[in-house]
Amino acid sequence: LVILLSGEQMTLPEAEARALILTQDEQADIQKVDDRVILAKTSAEPITIARRISYGRRVGTLIPDGRLTNEQLDVLEASSYRITIFRLGRRKVDLEEIAPPIIEQINARIDLENPEYEIAVICGSKNYFILTKSKIMQQDWFTRRPRSRAYFHPTAIFPKLARALVNLTRVKEGEVLLDPFAGTGSILLEGALVGARCIGVDISGKMVRGALANQKKFNQEWLGVILADSTRLPLMKVDAIVTDIPYGRASSTFDSDVHEIMDALMEISPKLLDKAKRMVLMHPKSVTIQQSKNFELEESHDIYIHRKLTRAITVLRRI
Ligand SMILES: C[S@@+](CC[C@H](N)C(=O)[O-])C[C@H]1O[C@@H](n2cnc3c(N)ncnc32)[C@H](O)[C@@H]1O
Repeated sequence: LVILLSGEQMTLPEAEARALILTQDEQADIQKVDDRVILAKTSAEPITIARRISYGRRVGTLIPDGRLTNEQLDVLEASSYRITIFRLGRRKVDLEEIAPPIIEQINARIDLENPEYEIAVICGSKNYFILTKSKIMQQDWFTRRPRSRAYFHPTAIFPKLARALVNLTRVKEGEVLLDPFAGTGSILLEGALVGARCIGVDISGKMVRGALANQKKFNQEWLGVILADSTRLPLMKVDAIVTDIPYGRASSTFDSDVHEIMDALMEISPKLLDKAKRMVLMHPKSVTIQQSKNFELEESHDIYIHRKLTRAITVLRRI
């Protein structure tokens, strides 16, 4: 399996890609073979990853040295395809050299507009050839951007980021995902789209109503949104916790200091998660997550929000 990562200069794209592979196959052998190229020996399904991924440009199967396997040729037989070239560095790429040797192997129609398959040639420090299905990566971020929802609030995060947070939890289809500080429901919207059963909690009635209006607008099934204080959460078992911690004036903390909120969450969450389940927190970079006997720190990433704001994403695994 090959994933071409999107070009953002941060650690999140690689982490998300790894998390998505490991969600399906914990034994996968994953390597970063080029600046933006992940190669994995795995049983994970490329299509499932392609549909979920946020910071990825293509997901497909490797065509070793540009020679299609018999299985790949069978897939392409009598269908349509196009070749797309991705140039990653400054290296000169000669199209005349790349395309003909591929075309001569394939007995299928070339269709530039509406092909069923695509052969992506990634020109990095060397060329990687991958077979992908077209149109499976239409994540439609724009239609769910904060301003186009039924209820808008300035603290809402963009769907692309919310989806990556969800993916880092490695939640599987049908599992229960909790956002204890749900706000307008950005994380819940993306969780539902990857097939999780979502529950939100928020202390503000306005936010709860707003999140439910957003759920309705996008015609989604959620388990629900609870009006409650997450520092005294009524107990329930969930498979993943993912949240954007409230802090500062815009996302009112209702008089609790961000540290108090984090401490309360660190105390309550072990009761909600079974061993090996994950909690993903987006928080101000200035807040360090205290070591806990209940969680191991799996990874952390900085994420640039705007000129004056960098946040951190911390992935914790219940032990
Ligand atoms: C940063 S915002 C979440 C924004 C959300 N990620 C979105 O995209 O809309 C934090 C939310 O936490 C809620 N909140 C603050 N203190 C809370 C508490 N103790 N329990 C539950 N929710 C709380 C606020 O009402 C606010 O909606």
